[in-house]
Amino acid sequence: MQTDLRGRDLIGDLDFTREEVETVLEVAFDLKRKRALGEPHPYLRDKVLAMLFFFSSTRTRGSFEAGMAQLGGHAAFIESRTTQISHGDTEKEMGEIFGRYFDGIAIRHVDWGIGNRYLNLVAEASREPVLNMQCEFYHPFQILADLMTIIEKKGRDLRRKKMVVSWAYASSYLKPVSVPQSLILQMPRFGLDVVLAHPPEFKLMPEIMDQAKAQAKKFGTGFEVVDDMNEAVKDADIVYAKSWGPLLTTTDPEGGKKIQDKYKDWIADEKKMGLAKADSIYMHPLPADRNIEVTDGVIDGPHSVVFDEAENRLHAQKAVMALTMR
Ligand code: CP
Repeated sequence: MQTDLRGRDLIGDLDFTREEVETVLEVAFDLKRKRALGEPHPYLRDKVLAMLFFFSSTRTRGSFEAGMAQLGGHAAFIESRTTQISHGDTEKEMGEIFGRYFDGIAIRHVDWGIGNRYLNLVAEASREPVLNMQCEFYHPFQILADLMTIIEKKGRDLRRKKMVVSWAYASSYLKPVSVPQSLILQMPRFGLDVVLAHPPEFKLMPEIMDQAKAQAKKFGTGFEVVDDMNEAVKDADIVYAKSWGPLLTTTDPEGGKKIQDKYKDWIADEKKMGLAKADSIYMHPLPADRNIEVTDGVIDGPHSVVFDEAENRLHAQKAVMALTMR
């Protein structure tokens, strides 16, 4: 068990080794049990987390804030537009100064080509851990919660289980590629055979694809890319179908929307779930475009685990905070 995570940043999914992620999961399940039993667990008494948001959130804000309080500490919600960032506070000022006030700095910044760099520069300047609440490349805490949920539903031995990470149509906005990228990086390390499905314009970053293939090879799991959602979901154990923007093709919202609109039939519906295994689970990080990205029948139906998945954000994040911010 690798327990020395004190002071470590979590920005990309591979920042923690597989053994370290196993430690996180073990602590997360223990914290979930303690919360269910009403056992106090103030491992971070008097500690304070800065939560710096450049983009909106429901689950991430709520779960980090509640999590810090349950650990005996406090989380400060800071919207970037209410700070002096636009008046000259650079990443260096934010890392140096917040690193002196706070015991950890969590940041959400999903702007294409800006967010990940911002987090890394703050981390360079900060004496305390920097936690990625989602950047344009990665959403590591979502994937830790997803992994917890998969283990709860499918057991600890995930070898030869088929996980489909599929693009789905959405009309609301061009969603980041961070969730599918983080999924294909982390899941092969836990034995899952990953099938990535998307229309041709929705490719993920080549360097992430190379890393995902390398992880699959290292851990002896399957990794396949297809361009047909029906073909992908056939006999799947896990269907993780969500939208992302064609950001490697264009970052222009109007141009991207025109491309997305060509693929309205990429919806997670009852017919597609009928192609998966009878005991398959449907996953989505939320928010979803209901009846566009996924039907009510699927998201509210017997295969769906989306609310357990959202709950597990709380436990997974508390585990990482307790291990890194001690
Ligand atoms: N899944 C997720 O990160 O949700 P929020 O955008 O609401 O935080």
